[in-house]
Amino acid sequence: MDYPVITKPKLDEFRVRPNLEEYHRSVQGFTWEQLRGELDGLPGGGLNLAHEAIDRHAHSDRRDRVALYWEGTGGEEERYTFAKLKELTDRFANVLKGLGVKKGDRVFLFMERIPELYVAFFGILKAGAIAGPLFSAFGPDPVKDRLLDSGAKVLIVTPDLRKRIGGILQSLPELKHVIVVNKNNRSKEPLAPGDISYEKEMASASSNFQIVKTTEDDFSIMHYTSGTTGKPKGAVHAHKAALQHMATGRWVLDLHDDDMYWCTADPGWVTGTSYGMSAPWTNGVSQVVYEGGFRASTWYHIIQKYRVTVWYTAPTAIRMLMRAGDEIPKRYDLTSLRYMCSVGEPLNPEAIMWGLRTIKLPFHDNWWQTETGAILIANYPAMDIRPGSMGRPIPGIEAAVVDEKGKQAKPGQEGDLAIRPGWPSMFRTYWHNQEMYDSKFKNGWYITGDRARTDEDGYFWFIGRADDVINTAGHLVGPFEVESALIEHPAVAEAGVIGKPDPVAMEVVKAFVALHAGYEPTDALRADIMRFVRQKLAAGIAPREIEFVDSLPKTRSGKIMRRLLKARELGLPEGDTSTLEED
Ligand code: PRX
Repeated sequence: MDYPVITKPKLDEFRVRPNLEEYHRSVQGFTWEQLRGELDGLPGGGLNLAHEAIDRHAHSDRRDRVALYWEGTGGEEERYTFAKLKELTDRFANVLKGLGVKKGDRVFLFMERIPELYVAFFGILKAGAIAGPLFSAFGPDPVKDRLLDSGAKVLIVTPDLRKRIGGILQSLPELKHVIVVNKNNRSKEPLAPGDISYEKEMASASSNFQIVKTTEDDFSIMHYTSGTTGKPKGAVHAHKAALQHMATGRWVLDLHDDDMYWCTADPGWVTGTSYGMSAPWTNGVSQVVYEGGFRASTWYHIIQKYRVTVWYTAPTAIRMLMRAGDEIPKRYDLTSLRYMCSVGEPLNPEAIMWGLRTIKLPFHDNWWQTETGAILIANYPAMDIRPGSMGRPIPGIEAAVVDEKGKQAKPGQEGDLAIRPGWPSMFRTYWHNQEMYDSKFKNGWYITGDRARTDEDGYFWFIGRADDVINTAGHLVGPFEVESALIEHPAVAEAGVIGKPDPVAMEVVKAFVALHAGYEPTDALRADIMRFVRQKLAAGIAPREIEFVDSLPKTRSGKIMRRLLKARELGLPEGDTSTLEED
C-alpha cells in the first residue's frame, strides 16, 4: 500500500515549531565548529559532559528549574533541579575520588531507572572516569562479560540486582568496590560484607568538587553492542559527543526551553544516555523519567500528568500502544504533546498513520546506532515525512549508500549504509578491540552494518541488517551470546539462533537446538532450556521459541549457517543462500 507524504508546511496543524533557522543552516554548508561556542567548556579549558548537562545550568538562571521529574513504580514522585543535581553529582564524584577512582577508570552502573542512576552517572563523568550503564533486566552472564571485558573498578548497584549477580562478583579480579543504592530503604536486608552504602557515603561527602579536567577526546561513556561473532563489544564515546547531543536535541527532537520531554529508553542502552540524559540537559530542558516498564494506560497517564510536550520512543512501543487499542488514549488528555519521534527499528507507515489518527501528530523516524553516538539521519520537524523513510542526514553529516568498493549507489539501488567519519559523537574504539574497530572503516567510509537505499530526493530507506544481528524490540542481540548460553545447558549439543519476524517486536529470538545423545526433545526439556537461558541472560534476549533439530547446517569450517536456518524458517528457497557457504 502506498502512503501519502505528510507535508509539513501545514506545521501549525501539528503544533510543531519548525526550527527553520537551523534547517536552512544545514543546507548552506554547516560545519560543527559553528556550534562550538554554544558549549561552555570547562573553566580553564577542556570539555566534560557533566558540566554541559548540569553545572552550567546550575550557575545560570535555570538553576531552580526542575531537570528531572521522577515517578517510581510505586507512584513515588521526586523532583531534582539543576542546582540539586549539581550538588548530588559533586558529592558522588567525591565518593568515587575517596575510593581512589582516577581518570579513565571504568565505573559501571546496574540499576533500575531511579534518580540515583542519573546522579551516579554524572558523578562518574565529573571524576573523569568512564561510565558503563548496564540494562537492569540483564542476568548474571551479560553483566559478568561486560564487567570483565571493561575491567570495571567500581560497580554501583541496587540490592535486588546485587542479589541477582552475587555469584559472579568473585570472578572479577579488577572490581574493587561495590556501592549499593538502597533507594528509600526499599530493601530491609543488611549490606553484604565489603559492600559500600551509597546513602552513607553521600551523607558524609563534600558537595564541592572540581570536575577532573577532561578534553573533548577523553572517553566518557561505553555501551556494549552486539555483533555477529563473539561477545558484545564495548563502543567507547568521548565528551565531544555533547556537541551533537545538544544539536540534535534541537534540530531533531525540536527541544525548546519550555518543553517537557520524555524519552522512554533505558540508560542501559545508548538512546537512554544520549537522549535520556545528554540531549535534554545540554539544552537545559526538563524531562520525565518513569521507572516502570510498558503499560499502555500508564504511559498515557505519564504524558497527561506531566504535560509531556516532546516524546521520543520506539516502534515496538508504538505497536504495543496500537495493539492496546484506540479507546484507551481517548480517556487521557494528550493535547500537551506537540512533537513525537521514534528510533531503533524501522517505523512502519501504519504506526505513523496511527499517531496522526489517535494523537493528531505523526511520529518522526530517525536513524542512528550505538557506534554513531547520536542521531545522524532524521525526519526534521520542518521536513515532509515520507512514511517508511528514516529521513535525511542532519547538518554536518555525509551519509551514502555504497557498494563494496565504496562507490556511491544510484538512487533506488541497495547497498551498505555508510557515513563519512569524523562526526562529533562518533565512537572512538571498541574497548580492547581496535582491530574490530578498524574493520568498520573502508574506503574512507564508516560502514554501519545496515543495508539501505536512497530515493531521488535524498531520503534514506532502511532495508535490513547486513549481518546476523537480531533486532528485538529495538534491542540488538548477538546470536553468539545466546548460542553460548544455550550450549551451557547440559542437554544442548549445538545451537543456532536467528531473528524470527514478529508483528510487534519486529523480530524475536528463535533458537534451533540439537541435543546430546540420550536426551529426548520433550516440551518439558524445552521449557527447562528456556528458563535456564532466561536466568542467565534476560527475558528479552533469551529465545522466545526453541525448535529441536537433529543437527545444524554448517559451513566447511564448522560455522553454523544462521542464514540458512533463517531461510528455512521464512520458507525461502535455500538455494538463495548458496553464497553463504563460506563466509
Ligand atoms: O539496524 C539499525 C537499527 O538499529 C541499529 C542500531 O541499534 P543500536 O546500536 O542498539 O542503537 C540503538 C539506538 C538508535 C541500526 O544499525 N535502527 C536504528 N534506527 C532505525 C533502525 N532501523 C530502521 N530504522 C530506524 N530508524
